[in-house]
Amino acid sequence: MKMVIGVDLGTSGVKGVIFDSDGKALASESDNYPLISSKKNWAEEDPLVWQKATLNMLRHLLDSFSKPKDEIVAIGLTGQMHGLVLLDKNNQVLRPALLWCDLRSEDVSAELIAKYGKGFFLKRTGNLPIASLTLAKLLWIKKYEPKIFSAIDKVMLPKDYIRYILTGKHQSELSDLSGTQFINFATKDYDEEIMHIIGLPRHVYPQIIASYDSGGNIKNSIAKELGLNPNVIVAGGASDQAANALGVGVIKNKEATISMGSSGVFLAVNDKFTFNNSGKSQTFMHVDGRSFLTIGVTQTCTTSLNWFTDTFYSEFSDKKIALSKINDDASESPIGSNGVIFLPYLMGERTPHLNANAKGVFFGLNTNVDRKDMARAVMEGVAYSIKDCALVVLKHQSINRIGIGGGGAKSPLWRQIVADTLGLKLDLSSVNESGCLGAAILAMIASGIYPSITKAVEIIFSNPKTFVVPNKENNLIYQENFLIYQGIYKQLKTLFR
Ligand code: XUL
Repeated sequence: MKMVIGVDLGTSGVKGVIFDSDGKALASESDNYPLISSKKNWAEEDPLVWQKATLNMLRHLLDSFSKPKDEIVAIGLTGQMHGLVLLDKNNQVLRPALLWCDLRSEDVSAELIAKYGKGFFLKRTGNLPIASLTLAKLLWIKKYEPKIFSAIDKVMLPKDYIRYILTGKHQSELSDLSGTQFINFATKDYDEEIMHIIGLPRHVYPQIIASYDSGGNIKNSIAKELGLNPNVIVAGGASDQAANALGVGVIKNKEATISMGSSGVFLAVNDKFTFNNSGKSQTFMHVDGRSFLTIGVTQTCTTSLNWFTDTFYSEFSDKKIALSKINDDASESPIGSNGVIFLPYLMGERTPHLNANAKGVFFGLNTNVDRKDMARAVMEGVAYSIKDCALVVLKHQSINRIGIGGGGAKSPLWRQIVADTLGLKLDLSSVNESGCLGAAILAMIASGIYPSITKAVEIIFSNPKTFVVPNKENNLIYQENFLIYQGIYKQLKTLFR
């Protein structure tokens, strides 16, 4: 049976999963790396560290894989969006990558809006030039690091840097490129006026291929190193949000998904191009290159729980054991966490506040509160922030189905809290590495296992569905607490610096 590998270059680590053509996960491996934040609102990672971690992860994955490796025919890539990777003319990394959660370019984004107006960017690129997206990051380099800017020979997104390492090709696809603001949503090609504003020659940008097309074979040296057949192809792949949606079978108009990764996302698929002129939700493209994703993003989802684990459960050196203890502890705290409410704004907040200065808050502490309550409050606070995202997205469109995926959704307690908070039934089709599965499905199409996205989804998600069903009583409590959650931000807004 033919097999493919889905690779997800996330914010906290890289994962790889080998799938058979029915979408069954046969083996998985991961490797972690640190996020470097040397100044307020800065968030960087070193592409050379990604490269090492990805090759390490693939080596381990394949070394311990007992099935015949020559039946592996393709690799699909996905990863964190918006990150800025810069190479010089010798293909050397020029500086650490500025990540999606790096908000240093707020001044550049304000200057762009003041100079060109909101409509200029919204009509072309579907989004305002907010600090989260790649355009403002690249123009920050132009303004503050002119020497680096003048040495740029290639601009890449994170997963496309991994493609470059695997194939030697400088390519990308629209689901990820639509989050850069380099692309005109009408022509689906680089926007001439934006190119002019940036002022770099056209060859620095990647060649555009379809998410479900082959971008070519892996390099012989990589095939040899990993023990793979040199005919293995690398598919276009997708942004983490588009891959996660595909990985829970969400491809049609009015279908939605919640992704509980480093960031938390509520997104809905839309046939039509719409945009939000407040910048509170973003519009990107889906894996078919035709439909759009309306996205609300809370900056820290699993990042919040990981921070809490490292800070309050540091006696556990094994992260997995610590997280399992936290889940047990949180389940012992009552709904509403004994009055504790957590604002998960540890890295500022995008939806709905668009405020780089927002901060994390524990509200409602008293002498009866313990860390079990605080652990539950972190899970509930993230659920409130996902509800905030859902409210912004649902203002603009209706939905008829919601899938849930991402690492955080593996916790039965946390996903139940999310369902109870939103009061919505969540489809748990494939919580197992939905991002890797989405990337793998694109690899299956690129290698001819399936003729189309629709056919692949029809077959891979043909099993009876499992749902997370909201509890009505809990939902009523969460509705009240959500108002307090919103009120706390309103009261504290002017105090955040
Ligand atoms: C989406 C976004 C994040 C990153 C990291 O706009 O910024 O979801 O893709 O996961």
